[in-house]
Amino acid sequence: MATIQTHTTQTEATRKYGIVAMPDLTYTPEIAEKTASLYEKVSSVIPAVEWPAFAPYVKAINDLKKERNAVVLAHNYMTPEIFHCVADFMGDSLQLAKEASAADADIIVQCGVHFMAETSKLLNPDKTVLIPDMDAGCSLAESITGSDVRGLRETYPGVPIVTYVNTSAEVKAECDICCTSSNAVQIVESLGVPRVLLIPDEYLAKYVATQTDVEILTWKGHCEVHERFTAEELQQYRESEPGLRIIAHPECPPDVLAEADFTGSTSGMINWVQTNRPPKVLMVTECSMSDNVAIETPGVEFIRPCNLCPHMKRITLPKILDSLVYLKDEVLVDPAIAANARRAVERMVNLTN
Ligand code: 13P
Ligand code: SF4
Repeated sequence: MATIQTHTTQTEATRKYGIVAMPDLTYTPEIAEKTASLYEKVSSVIPAVEWPAFAPYVKAINDLKKERNAVVLAHNYMTPEIFHCVADFMGDSLQLAKEASAADADIIVQCGVHFMAETSKLLNPDKTVLIPDMDAGCSLAESITGSDVRGLRETYPGVPIVTYVNTSAEVKAECDICCTSSNAVQIVESLGVPRVLLIPDEYLAKYVATQTDVEILTWKGHCEVHERFTAEELQQYRESEPGLRIIAHPECPPDVLAEADFTGSTSGMINWVQTNRPPKVLMVTECSMSDNVAIETPGVEFIRPCNLCPHMKRITLPKILDSLVYLKDEVLVDPAIAANARRAVERMVNLTN
């Protein structure tokens, strides 16, 4: 039986690239000057009094990226000082997977949760993939195991299994193809069959079922962040905020999505705001995304009953710097499962290219 073996080791990467000295993290006039243009970008969401605590890390990380030939991939849920000040590529899960497969660097630092770093490693078996905190998990990824998927195969013989990217490599290895929230309908329909299992997010599966004639079977996984939103709270916001537009992520429950003017992946939501420029918008998703988009869409007021993802919030500037100095935590995937898991991810990437 294949088992997942994704674990921390400092030895493989440090043997290859060595450890460098920890930079001096004093906030000096020189650091203030060198980071001034970055601060200007985030000044609408980061108070000036907080910048001296961030600036030395921002400067040190950007210097070390060059020295190490490293890139930082950041999910849309990263905080603004990460998203706007040290990331080389930002995006939703699909965009980050594609950037990972095109990355021209020796080292990838994945600022997101573990399944995202694992996906980068699957697509870059020869590169060093680091995650600043190995405990940055995901309630969806934890809701299902490879053995559960084998059970589903026995219960539903012949029904193809599509796995949401928010799963472990062990689960991906048991599935036919991967999908993300931005391409789930396309992937399901590409299989050309009347019935598909789409796991593990029950709500994403229910949303996809409303967009296609394919019958969708699913699992009982939920995102602990999106399942907390309620239709009642959105109705109250609509009443108290005239002209409000509501846009939601498909990991939300169906009655919440029924209140939304638009449903899409994190990048789909960002594009919607940038294109439609509503006077007032409520993004039914993780908190940091509103800050990141607000910086780029002056004139749009963001109403924020957002929920924090505790896993995404484990990623901080000090931990990113530690990653680059000590080359930790390295993400590795057991070769016994990597080939099958990679096939499922590559099948998706090829279909959506
Ligand atoms: P996206 O692929 O839409 O960025 O979603 C990832 C995620 O974890 C949302 O909670
Ligand atoms: Fe997982 Fe939800 Fe956090 Fe996204 S927001 S990483 S789905 S727990």
